[in-house]
Amino acid sequence: MTEEKNININIPEDELMKQKNYMDRIRAMNDEHFARTGKRKKHLTVTFGCQMNAHDSEKLEGMLEQIGYMKAEEEEKADFIIYNTCCVRENAEQKVYGKLGYLKHLKDKNEDLIIAMCGCMMQQEEVLNTIRTKYKHVDIIFGTFNLYKMPELLQTYLETKRTVIDIWKEHKEIVEDLPSIRKHKFKASVNIMYGCNNFCTYCIVPYVRGRERSRKPEDILKEIEDLVADGVKEIMLLGQNVNSYGKTLEDKVTFAQLLRKVNEIEGLKRIRFMTSHPKDLSDELIEAMRDCDKVCKSLHLPFQAGSTKILKAMNRKYTKEQYLDLAKKIQREIPNIALTTDIIVGFPGETEEDFEDTLDIVRQVQFSGAYTFIYSKRTGTPAAVMEEQVPEEVSSRRFNKLQEVLRPIITEKSQALHGKTLEILVEDVSKNDEKLLTGRTESGHLVHFEGDSSLIGEFINVEITEAKTYYLIGQRV
Ligand code: 5AD
Ligand code: SF4
Repeated sequence: MTEEKNININIPEDELMKQKNYMDRIRAMNDEHFARTGKRKKHLTVTFGCQMNAHDSEKLEGMLEQIGYMKAEEEEKADFIIYNTCCVRENAEQKVYGKLGYLKHLKDKNEDLIIAMCGCMMQQEEVLNTIRTKYKHVDIIFGTFNLYKMPELLQTYLETKRTVIDIWKEHKEIVEDLPSIRKHKFKASVNIMYGCNNFCTYCIVPYVRGRERSRKPEDILKEIEDLVADGVKEIMLLGQNVNSYGKTLEDKVTFAQLLRKVNEIEGLKRIRFMTSHPKDLSDELIEAMRDCDKVCKSLHLPFQAGSTKILKAMNRKYTKEQYLDLAKKIQREIPNIALTTDIIVGFPGETEEDFEDTLDIVRQVQFSGAYTFIYSKRTGTPAAVMEEQVPEEVSSRRFNKLQEVLRPIITEKSQALHGKTLEILVEDVSKNDEKLLTGRTESGHLVHFEGDSSLIGEFINVEITEAKTYYLIGQRV
């Protein structure tokens, strides 16, 4: 491995055309390799973290396919490996470092292997330094703001065989129309906005994904219409805080207005969205959710912590009572809505009494599902330097207690569906039993049932015959 090269960042007028050009050039090389060897070069994109990252990986895979790479089933069979990383919690980072060690071993065996890293971790200077000094087998490094430049960076690496590093500190422009590969033909994610302006004090996202910026409604609607024409029936609208959608646009438009427009798209059957910040969730949105037949009656509404004191320290901008009032209003206005949430335990300064407030919200709201986390200190965030960091054993105990309280509630919500006939979108063959298919209800519940794989991508009705905590068993009717 040779030394690094920082390449010049200079956005020409039509960035997309430029990248398409690079894709064509590498494609020609890959086609030539195929003609010579009878083998297609293979790529593998490994994704860590959230749906936003998963969607970024779909864009990378779309470009990789255009470049002429086939998807490898495992790292050992790949010629080009991309790790799309996450830094929201420390264990996500540790996982990446662990895997990087393993990649060194692959690179020792195959010097033609190209290793790239991108995503949120790369936006942190300490991480970049660690990789440059300790993991010199990484060939290409880019960040969250310039993902679309992957073809150019790859081309530079192929020409120079020197490590290529290109990290931007902030976004420059939103590049539309990147090719994208979706995992499922019948459902897709669509970014409606990027970045976050909230600066919750525990969260690294605003530092690595930059300031909030919304895509224009016409671009979003066009993308969804094209997806529907291509067979998509369910759309997930993605943003760190969808409720503040439109605030940065010249022609102001609210998320509720966007939702109503998406709802009019013919051929689309289901609309989901995430994530909603409670502080920005308007009555207008509740009404839109209620009125729009395609909008799934399920809502992910993270509350993070129950105590008003901790919420203040987290900079969440709502109190315990405000969250409870909001959740209850939504449940009243949209009967049968399935509410899910994110919860952090062990935030600095959290006492037993504060933690009791978290349990109290869990008991009062009766969530259908929850993602639960132990607070993880992220360097550079305000919470990292707060006094009264909670010891690991206290956080772990609270985490376990939280599971104990959540479990029966989630089970009860699930059991309420027993005996009901529900419409599901069939998504896959079950991972654990190939005789079973899995689908999702409008509420987001996972249903396993016996059926033929030709049903994948179809809406069908199932009667729920058994309800477990995290999934349901059904029978086609
Ligand atoms: N520690 C623990 N959990 C975190 N989250 C974000 N940052 C941290 C952190 N430093 C959780 C929040 C957020 C979810 C995506 O990850 O609950 O909603
Ligand atoms: Fe992080 Fe808060 Fe922004 Fe969500 S809203 S991405 S938790 S800063």
